[in-house]
Amino acid sequence: MATKHHYLNPFILSPDIPDEYFCDRKAETETLLRYVMNGNNILLISPRRMGKSGIIHHVFNRHEVKDKYYSFFIDIYETSSLEEFVQKLGQEIVGKLSKKGLNPLMAFLKSLTGLRGVFSLNPSTGMPSFSVGIGDITQPELTLNEIFSYLESADKPCIVAIDEFQKVADYEQNNVEAILRSKIQMMHNTTFIFSGSERSVLAQMFGSAARPFYQSVSTMSLGPIECAEYTRFAINLFDSYGKQLNEEAVESLYNLVQGYTYYLQRAMNESFSLLPSETVCDRSFIFERIDGILTSNTDTYKELLSSLTANQRALLTAIALEGKAMNITSVEFVKRHGLGAVSSVQTAARSLLKRQLITRDSEKQYYMDDKFLELWLIRPYGISLEIRLAQNKQ
Ligand SMILES: Nc1ncnc2c1ncn2[C@@H]1O[C@H](COP(=O)(O)OP(=O)(O)OP(=O)(O)O)[C@@H](O)[C@H]1O
Ligand SMILES: [Mg+2]
Repeated sequence: MATKHHYLNPFILSPDIPDEYFCDRKAETETLLRYVMNGNNILLISPRRMGKSGIIHHVFNRHEVKDKYYSFFIDIYETSSLEEFVQKLGQEIVGKLSKKGLNPLMAFLKSLTGLRGVFSLNPSTGMPSFSVGIGDITQPELTLNEIFSYLESADKPCIVAIDEFQKVADYEQNNVEAILRSKIQMMHNTTFIFSGSERSVLAQMFGSAARPFYQSVSTMSLGPIECAEYTRFAINLFDSYGKQLNEEAVESLYNLVQGYTYYLQRAMNESFSLLPSETVCDRSFIFERIDGILTSNTDTYKELLSSLTANQRALLTAIALEGKAMNITSVEFVKRHGLGAVSSVQTAARSLLKRQLITRDSEKQYYMDDKFLELWLIRPYGISLEIRLAQNKQ
């Protein structure tokens, strides 16, 4: 039965999803809420595109959090120094406070004594806007202290989510981890959610006794949404718009992209928008839409490949062809894919891991998180979506 919706397409591709279009994650949401409300700092790990940012926004939108906490969210993927980290955090707080009015914003800005920024008044709203350039942060540690003291003295408890936290380990200044840890340890009014997708780097940062953040968090892993949950969700959404979706079709899609949330949502979004009226959305319709997406991504993929060395390209393709690759430095693997020297495979693997084009699980299996790129890479080898689906089911 068709119900009223505000969205033209209910399969939302941005991380901040209204509750009615958010699929499952019930248990994970409760756990995350419980940790936050009990003041536990959290490490949230998942493969790329599985839904880390999504669940953090979902928790922030819950009334228990909305009414009682100030919540902040920064993604530090693009940062490479403490200055940039401080800039991101400062800007996020300014952005949130601007919505609350002039006084809270001014109070915050006054507390930042070490900062020179640029003030301007927005003529239409009368609100000040404040922009901080990297050059304005001359004493990043002092400013970080001041920001943290501000959070500590806020009239409500605060939650700070730092996405792609593993980036901190790459900063040139190598004591940033220690600086952050020593300050965060002292905070009582503020809970932190650290999240990221580089499992091995994060496991080192939080699990190795020599590192500052050693055993300082409760860890949560986010896996794929269960197939039955996603299937029910997708069918219901189609139904509520008066459209029909075949159950087997969603299950096949799920197997094809191995439950990775983004690729499910992207394929369903496209299928939903292109489905002719009075037709049922079935497997071949969805697979044709994916083929279309892969074709339209071709330029982007080609550009990405051209930024790799020949060895890296060859290894990436070999891993894509195998789906899950074991013993990639064995003579047998190297021979089967014509990869040349074992040492060059090792070097290529390191670079691909660093660029997050491949991941390695605890059983030393290598695979790609970008399921569409994987499908695109194997297409010229005659492996169609149907064939890959059959392989995945084995
Ligand atoms: N529970 C959910 N229900 C519906 N869609 C979701 C859900 N969780 C995530 N998504 C969608 O899946 C996609 C990926 O989610 P998200 O950006 O949260 O992943 P991520 O793990 O943060 O990825 P990245 O590693 O790239 O940062 C987004 O398009 C988002 O809209
Ligand atoms: Mg994210």
